[in-house]
Amino acid sequence: MSRIVVAVDGPAGSGKSSVSKAVARKLGYAYLDTGAAYRAFAWHAQNAGVELEDAASVASALPSFEFSEATDPDHFSVRVGEKDVTDAIRKPAVTGIVSLVARVPEVRAALTEVFRSIAAATERDGIVIEGRDITTAVAPDAQVRVLLTASEEARMGRRSAELTGYSAQVVGEQLKARDRADSRVVDFMTAADGVTTVDSTELDFDETVDAVIAVIRTNL
Ligand code: C5P
Repeated sequence: MSRIVVAVDGPAGSGKSSVSKAVARKLGYAYLDTGAAYRAFAWHAQNAGVELEDAASVASALPSFEFSEATDPDHFSVRVGEKDVTDAIRKPAVTGIVSLVARVPEVRAALTEVFRSIAAATERDGIVIEGRDITTAVAPDAQVRVLLTASEEARMGRRSAELTGYSAQVVGEQLKARDRADSRVVDFMTAADGVTTVDSTELDFDETVDAVIAVIRTNL
């Protein structure tokens, strides 16, 4: 049996990371968070002292980027070299700069290759890959392709609940600014042909997980 790929895209705060992880856990699949890789690269580029506004300078940090991500949904972690950056990459300091590195074509091309090799190396029956361009660029041939959306209000509310200690206004402004910047590079607000939209605005977490699993069952 060939490996099943479930591609999940969506904007910031749509719940795609936690939902995709729960779906992977329920089905016994691997889980790949591609946003974590972009975040880890932003962390690395900043530490390497590159000029983040300058695409060539950002791309120059690629050869020294040693990235690894554990794809077990129960033991998720991200490393750059020997350093565990799982928590550091969620901080607003990284969230605020990640779009600057994600818009550089060389970065997208290099990370897309990394994602495909991680997916090819998984020993599980399937893998859930989530991000912004998975259904369209990383795995356009995936057996299951989902766009997970939610209203801006719902997304802002969820993100500020996750980030305790930061004001809801700051979190909301950062989320909107990031979606604006990211949408200039990738369209993750409209479903491409053959992609099923799951709108989680009116759903709780478990209902959203069930809705995605229902899409998977329909497509397999
Ligand atoms: O999903 P998450 O919010 O962690 O993604 C962090 C950032 O990584 C996004 O704001 C976007 O700039 C970038 N990203 C991307 N393509 C992906 C996943 C994430 O450009 N497939």
